[in-house]
Amino acid sequence: RGKRAFIAGIADENGYGWAIAKSLAAAGAEILVGTWVPAMNIFETSLRRGKFDASRVLPDGSLMEITKVYPLDAVFDHPEDVPEDIKSNRRYAGYSNWTVQEVAECVKKDFGTIDILVHSLANGPEVSKPLLETSRKGYLAALSASSYSYVSLLKHFVPIMNPGGATISLTHNASERIIPGYGGGMSSAKAALESDTRVLAFEAGRRYKVRINTISAGPLRSRAAKAIGFVDTMIEYSINNAPLQKELVADEVGNAAAFLLSPLSSAITGSVVYVDNGLNAMGMAV
Ligand code: NAI
Repeated sequence: RGKRAFIAGIADENGYGWAIAKSLAAAGAEILVGTWVPAMNIFETSLRRGKFDASRVLPDGSLMEITKVYPLDAVFDHPEDVPEDIKSNRRYAGYSNWTVQEVAECVKKDFGTIDILVHSLANGPEVSKPLLETSRKGYLAALSASSYSYVSLLKHFVPIMNPGGATISLTHNASERIIPGYGGGMSSAKAALESDTRVLAFEAGRRYKVRINTISAGPLRSRAAKAIGFVDTMIEYSINNAPLQKELVADEVGNAAAFLLSPLSSAITGSVVYVDNGLNAMGMAV
């Protein structure tokens, strides 16, 4: 049978998660999705009404099928962690079983095992503030949503992954180089994500024979990136300065992801793989 993938962090057709889902579907994988609870209603409605159909077309002309969409909030690990104001929030009220532990249990109950896990989510409430002006709360929220969320997903999903399985997350070069504007502790969160990729690759590799890598992606006009505000500047900067002077399209990250999640990359784990038209390699802009 084909491989089964769970992709956390899809809420529309514009982000990296959607492109990764498409590349995996084109390679024959079954697609399960985890969608942030507040975005669940609009995502499911749009899917059902065919709003994404043009973006669902695969290279062979068929449409990508999403077998099931699970509500997920990767900031909460267990039901007892959820505070009252979230429980009673009207955007959460209609949904249940959306903490990381519960989603993993539901996937296990529905499908038994998975082969592939994708973490394509991030959130930094103070991303538009310089690090020097970031509050403790904002910094820790960025780490919680963007870094620990991966640790938690792996903790709960790796035990239901088949040996030989693979996982990736999405990171950004602001972890290693100064990218003014990528604030609120988001640069710190990506540095943690990359360091954790190495440690987790060791732990999950030894214990479960599962591979863990991260893609350091160039700029894309996703919903999350538009919220940061300067993505157009980054795209222009990359086109002007990278070795490959073209705009990065999401499918290029999708295809690299499909490689890292397939047996073609069976000896690659613990790596940060740059899919950024080579911009990271530049030492001097010309
Ligand atoms: P996106 O908006 O398509 O994806 C982010 C997703 O995270 C959204 O669907 C959002 O609903 C979800 N999310 C936020 N908080 C969540 C939570 N607590 N629980 C569950 N889901 C939650 O945007 P994009 O840009 O495709 O982001 C995907 C990944 O790619 C992120 O890790 C981002 O940092 C990374 N990335 C993006 C770049 C860009 O320029 N767009 C560049 C490099 C990395």
